[in-house]
Amino acid sequence: MNVKDSLLKAFAQAGRNYISGSALAEQLGVSRNAVWKAVKALESEGYIIDSVTAKGYRLSEQSNHLSAQLISEKLDTSLLGSRIIVLDEVDSTNNYAKALTTSDAVNGAVVIADRQTAGKGRMGRSFISPSGKGLYMSVVLHPEFSMNTAPLITSAAAVATAEAIESLCKADVKIKWVNDLYINGRKIVGILTEASVDMEMRSLDIAVIGIGINVRRVGDSFDEELAARATSIEDETGIALDRNELCAAVINHLDAYLGKIENREYLREYRRREMLTGNMITANVGNETITGKAVGIDRNANLMVEMENGIVHSLSSGEANLCRIVK
Ligand code: BTN
Repeated sequence: MNVKDSLLKAFAQAGRNYISGSALAEQLGVSRNAVWKAVKALESEGYIIDSVTAKGYRLSEQSNHLSAQLISEKLDTSLLGSRIIVLDEVDSTNNYAKALTTSDAVNGAVVIADRQTAGKGRMGRSFISPSGKGLYMSVVLHPEFSMNTAPLITSAAAVATAEAIESLCKADVKIKWVNDLYINGRKIVGILTEASVDMEMRSLDIAVIGIGINVRRVGDSFDEELAARATSIEDETGIALDRNELCAAVINHLDAYLGKIENREYLREYRRREMLTGNMITANVGNETITGKAVGIDRNANLMVEMENGIVHSLSSGEANLCRIVK
């Protein structure tokens, strides 16, 4: 590990405590001058480092720079995070992750970007991904799941992300089927899972779980139409989360759920958070729009919709919205 990475590791371990230049030099096995040079190099990369005479150094709470080292330090996983790739800019972390799987297959790799120039949403929509504001990450899986289990991945990711956010700030995070997360009635997270199937084995070959979280105040990065239905964690809670910490928390929660996805235990938590259940909804299914009452989530994470004639449809994909009350 180079001096900069060792320094980041030492900062991550020290948390809010300062470490003196001489303690760092001893810990890292380098001169104090080498520590100072590494501090300056990190600052030039965009890290903010507090430096106080007679106390030493620590990573500032204001520092908002993504770092594979800072994320790795907080991981407690058995599969995910085997490789962490942090990019300043990419078209889409899902695209990057999918390309990775063809060249250098890495089960459990995570790709994170500070900014996406062509972030992808569901249904061909785009996902606005400005620098410094959000967490845009894709997790690569070569799962040994049957085709029946595959649809559970996205809903498990929704629960894992909701729990990760709540573990770091006081918020009541809801899930809107199938995979959007909401705070105070507005969207803060979108999830796009892209998969390829091994037709011969009738199993899932590769899955890329793309998670986009609006973390910091959106300011003018959202236009009026988007700002009416989407928001950020900071806008809703006043808390400016550390993106590295949030990323590690998402990976840790997701790792725990993926390991036991087939027992479907996470569905209890999914159902508790789901916000359409009990309400009249409209859903787009293929080219059709149906209206009915959302009556629950079944064991395959399908939305059950009861029609006026009493027949219950199970929706496995598509999009559903609360019916607007026309006065
Ligand atoms: C949606 O809201 O429709 C899904 C949005 C998914 C956005 C994430 S950001 C990381 C990953 N890369 C992408 O291009 N999309 C997903």
